[in-house]
Amino acid sequence: MLADKEITMNLKGRDFLKLIDYTPEEIAYLIDLAAEYKAKKKAGIPHDDFHGKNIALIFEKTSTRTRCSFEVAAHDLGIMTTYLDPGASQIGKKESIADTARVLAGIYDGIEYRGFGQEIVEELAEYSKVPVWNGLTNEFHPTQILADFLTIKEHFGRLKGINFVYMGDARYNMGNSLMVGCAKMGVNFTASAPEKYFPDAALIEYCKKVAAENGSTITFETDPMKAVKGADVIYTDVWVSMGEPVEVWEERIRELSPYQVNTELMNAAGENAVFMHCLPAYHDLKTGVGREMGEKFGRDSMEVTNEVFESEQSIVFAEAENRMHTIKAVIAATV
Ligand code: CP
Ligand code: NVA
Repeated sequence: MLADKEITMNLKGRDFLKLIDYTPEEIAYLIDLAAEYKAKKKAGIPHDDFHGKNIALIFEKTSTRTRCSFEVAAHDLGIMTTYLDPGASQIGKKESIADTARVLAGIYDGIEYRGFGQEIVEELAEYSKVPVWNGLTNEFHPTQILADFLTIKEHFGRLKGINFVYMGDARYNMGNSLMVGCAKMGVNFTASAPEKYFPDAALIEYCKKVAAENGSTITFETDPMKAVKGADVIYTDVWVSMGEPVEVWEERIRELSPYQVNTELMNAAGENAVFMHCLPAYHDLKTGVGREMGEKFGRDSMEVTNEVFESEQSIVFAEAENRMHTIKAVIAATV
């Protein structure tokens, strides 16, 4: 079935930098391809069709899910990986992005990059003759959205018409990418936070236009209880992202705690709503940062309570597993 689609859907050589660059049909194709790879993996059917290929994984920020997903996905496809950890390469310090891109493109068949500004991964792609995949920048986290949408599709059987509510800091990588993804896939997107946490005005304008073309809406609501009325999915992310200064915790806690995903909020959405989070999450005090900030500010959780995180409505671990299947689809489609 997908083999037929592949004839019209040739993504070979394409970068995967942000969902803005992809059509709804291409995004749907990647999600379906991921589902097909997932089924093969579960059935024990080998799919190592890419022997002899090699990919480089550059991480200028830490990672569990994204790194492990790229490594396992590549291994399942028969591809060898090289992991370059934060600080272990010359990138940016002794060698420019443009030079790094041309060096690695001569050795590898694809390059994953996780780091800071979106402009860095865009520059890497500009100078690389092999596909570059964005493994998270400050602005976008596109591979995460594929996993989120595969998970929603598995749970609800569809994407179109789903009411998706994002609570908290909506102007960073997760809020931005989810808004774009929802607009492209006909999902109704609502962000709930104080106004200063809403995405960039130009991105909102673009998404409203794209959403209208795809039959969905983009809305903003400062009242969290109003925002979650009729929600199918309630999503949140950390209040302080990687690379942000520790000093912002105080302000974020003060301004975003009314938007914490707790049982009252889930109840306002109803029992059929699910809770999602890209992870890692500060839902208890069992992490170094969670404990330090929890003790400092007298809290036992941040963006989501432990009760919601551990509840039946939480589908965060199915979502995390889908990172691997969707990243596999991106590699296989573009290498
Ligand atoms: N969700 C996600 O990107 O997780 P990691 O930071 O562990 O890769
Ligand atoms: N907004 C988070 C996402 C982590 C997957 C961060 O950038 O740290």
